[in-house]
Amino acid sequence: MPLFRTKPVEHSIRDTEDPDHRLRRDLTALDLTVLGVGVIIGTGIFVLTGVVARDKAGPAVAISFVLAGIVCGLAALCYAEFASTVPVAGSAYTFSYATLGEFPAWIIGWDLILELALGAAVVAVGWSGYAASLLDSMGLTLPTAIGGSPGSDGGVINLPAVFVVLVVTALLIFGVKMSSRFNAIIVTVKLAVILLVIVAGLFYVKGANYRPFIPPAQSTAEVEGVRAPLMQVLFGAAPVNYGWLGVFAALAIVFFAYIGFDIVATAAEESRRPQRDLPIGILGSLAICTVLYVAVALVVVGMQPYTQLSASAPLADAFRGVGRPGFATIVSVGAIAGLTTVVLIMLLGQTRVFFAMSRDGLLPRGLSAVHPRFGTPYRVTLIMGAVVAVLAGFIPLAELAELVNIGTLFAFVVVAVSVVVLRRTRPDLPRAFRTPLVPLVPALAVLSCLFVMVNLPVETWLRFLAWLLVGVVLYGLYGYRHSRLALHAVDLKQSDNSPELR
Ligand code: ALA
Repeated sequence: MPLFRTKPVEHSIRDTEDPDHRLRRDLTALDLTVLGVGVIIGTGIFVLTGVVARDKAGPAVAISFVLAGIVCGLAALCYAEFASTVPVAGSAYTFSYATLGEFPAWIIGWDLILELALGAAVVAVGWSGYAASLLDSMGLTLPTAIGGSPGSDGGVINLPAVFVVLVVTALLIFGVKMSSRFNAIIVTVKLAVILLVIVAGLFYVKGANYRPFIPPAQSTAEVEGVRAPLMQVLFGAAPVNYGWLGVFAALAIVFFAYIGFDIVATAAEESRRPQRDLPIGILGSLAICTVLYVAVALVVVGMQPYTQLSASAPLADAFRGVGRPGFATIVSVGAIAGLTTVVLIMLLGQTRVFFAMSRDGLLPRGLSAVHPRFGTPYRVTLIMGAVVAVLAGFIPLAELAELVNIGTLFAFVVVAVSVVVLRRTRPDLPRAFRTPLVPLVPALAVLSCLFVMVNLPVETWLRFLAWLLVGVVLYGLYGYRHSRLALHAVDLKQSDNSPELR
């Protein structure tokens, strides 16, 4: 069945064994953990904590962070096996091409745009909140029309967000590489700022702000109509915020804060001892982030009543709220540096996935052209950079984040299923890391991801389904016919002398 033709794992791996293109296996468990912490900590904790505590969960946002950490831990155990079995660029796209077939792989690649490109836009919007806060503390206030997302506050275009995306796009086109040392410095700055928030913030925590820890459920305009979480609609409940249902709705948003550990999985090819180091790197960075996130959330909601938290730069503004603008400035500078690298890595990941898809012929091959001087896939980078800049400029943060989450959760579900499928279809493949308790752990990963997904608003589901539909149509019109695997099959029929897939 052509829709489910698979690209043999060996073909994918063979590409990486070419001596000219082999990556050095020199990443240790510590390097992988640093990489993970560097990609994971971003807009999720720096920005979303504020809106979500204010509008959805109250102080109990800390519980949402714990739950999201558990869901991601289960998915991470599956990612680690896939990354060590098919250690090639392209992430979940490549993996599903090898296991489920071309059509599901296309859908995943299409879906990954939501995670990576839209994710980059979300982080850029978060960056802009801290840039505005920093400028504010220097006495420069951006006009509301150009300083934030379009929406109720009079914003027309989020110019700082557009600016950071364009700068990062230029860096990627010129092939500026972020050395692991530079990454380590930025990660240290980011961690220092997070620790500063926890330690200095503790002095301003007031017990009264924790009461009630889980505010009683209430219906607000925020959750009416298509904004209601799917689960609440399915069970015919009157849509509410706060209460336990609010904690779950918050979980579905703060999940964003953990996105990025799957990018660590793609470094499998470069790790020295994937069997041992990859799970340490993935699970270690997740564990560190979970602890930090819960601590930050508890401190921030303890510093101010949750109803007063800021939606654009809550960690800095909490200090301003307690009369410590100096700390607010330090937090903003750290956030700006830290978030810039997250935008860069996500956009880079997006161009890699696109590159892999167009190399396989599912997107026009011209897109994967490499610049003669800079050696980078400049066309796809330019196109994606422009798209991300427009998204970041015009779409409000929370709605963007919800769409990123549903796309990512869907990819996690497919990866968890693929782990089980590949165990059946290719038990012979060497697996440097094996997910424990298969099929129990993948099954729990699937169920928990689905649970988070149904806690997203109906509106997000509709947007997601529309996006997938566009993907299906594009595949029918283009990828189905131009796939290299398909062309290869035709060649095989026509001659015994089949050309090599390279
Ligand atoms: N987890 C990353 C963030 O929170 C994507 O920004």
